[in-house]
Amino acid sequence: MPGIVTVTMNPALDITTSTSMVVPTSKVRCGEPRRDPGGGGLNVARVLRVLGASATAVFPSGGHIGRAIEDLVATEGVAMRSLTIRGSTRESLTINETETGLQYRFVLPGPRMTSMEQAAFLDLVTEAASEASYVVVSGSLPPGVPDDFYQHVADVVGELGARVVVDTSGPALRQLRGGVFLVKPSIRELREWTGRKLQVVDDQVAGARELIVRGVCAVVVLSLGAEGALLVTRHQEEYFPSIDVPVVSGVGAGDSMVAGMVYGLAHRWSLSDSVRYGVSAGAAMLQTPGTALCRLEDVKRFYSELTDGSAPTRSSGSSAPAVRRADR
Ligand SMILES: Nc1ncnc2c1ncn2[C@@H]1O[C@H](COP(=O)(O)OP(=O)(O)OP(=O)(O)O)[C@@H](O)[C@H]1O
Ligand SMILES: [Mg+2]
Repeated sequence: MPGIVTVTMNPALDITTSTSMVVPTSKVRCGEPRRDPGGGGLNVARVLRVLGASATAVFPSGGHIGRAIEDLVATEGVAMRSLTIRGSTRESLTINETETGLQYRFVLPGPRMTSMEQAAFLDLVTEAASEASYVVVSGSLPPGVPDDFYQHVADVVGELGARVVVDTSGPALRQLRGGVFLVKPSIRELREWTGRKLQVVDDQVAGARELIVRGVCAVVVLSLGAEGALLVTRHQEEYFPSIDVPVVSGVGAGDSMVAGMVYGLAHRWSLSDSVRYGVSAGAAMLQTPGTALCRLEDVKRFYSELTDGSAPTRSSGSSAPAVRRADR
């Protein structure tokens, strides 16, 4: 299978623990912590491994937290290329409050990356992507990195001939100009990008198509949480209902969905079937607690429910929407 590379500019060591009640001032004694590598691209690479595809995770790594992430990634059997940086990689803390079932998530900004480190990282991505067919860019940017960094990634990766898939938000999404194959905003992110409420499906399709008409990308998969997803290209739109499942934890549905879609695309499935596999992987992620990854048997079962058991359709390469390069 052709290679997949994931890019995580701002990885985190996700620490998950629990306590009976979070209260101010007093010490809150917590249970045994669980540690997971986190950050969009790292999660996508880990889920791809669960699905049976190998991806190389590329990320900056600083200090002992960075090394702890590298150890965990290696233990999971995920291939990686890391760039050692001077700053310390961040940690994120999730506390599950057992008395109420509420979840508290504390997210730190991440280390400041120097411009030399940014340039070295871009070189590392270029090297890793030289044989790749898909490069997935996911997550936030750390402090000091310009908002258009992902556009630079799209430019270098595009030159190599790989397709770029982007899942990001805020300024990093706003600064994308072109050369991207697929963008996966959530409805919250597309509302922010358009500045509109997008309350009805027609508005959502129009908002997603704006990304295409402006030349940012060829395909938009708009994720609608419990409402499912919308696939939008220049001339096509298709709605995919979600799978009705009891939610154990909502963490990571988007990353899992991206992994499912990229799995399908890298296997040359049609766009529609790739989105169905993404919706299945998103729902499967909701079946496992906290940062635990989805299970392959859940993904396969959900996909089979969506397709009445029929195998995925292969795409004919020429039917894929064309990517427009960014104007320099
Ligand atoms: N409650 C749910 N029930 C069924 N499927 C869901 C549910 N929540 C999410 N999903 C599936 O996972 C996909 C991704 O979820 P969502 O739209 O919440 O994206 P997200 O990237 O996790 O959101 P955000 O980045 O804004 O936090 C959805 O399109 C859907 O297929
Ligand atoms: Mg998301």
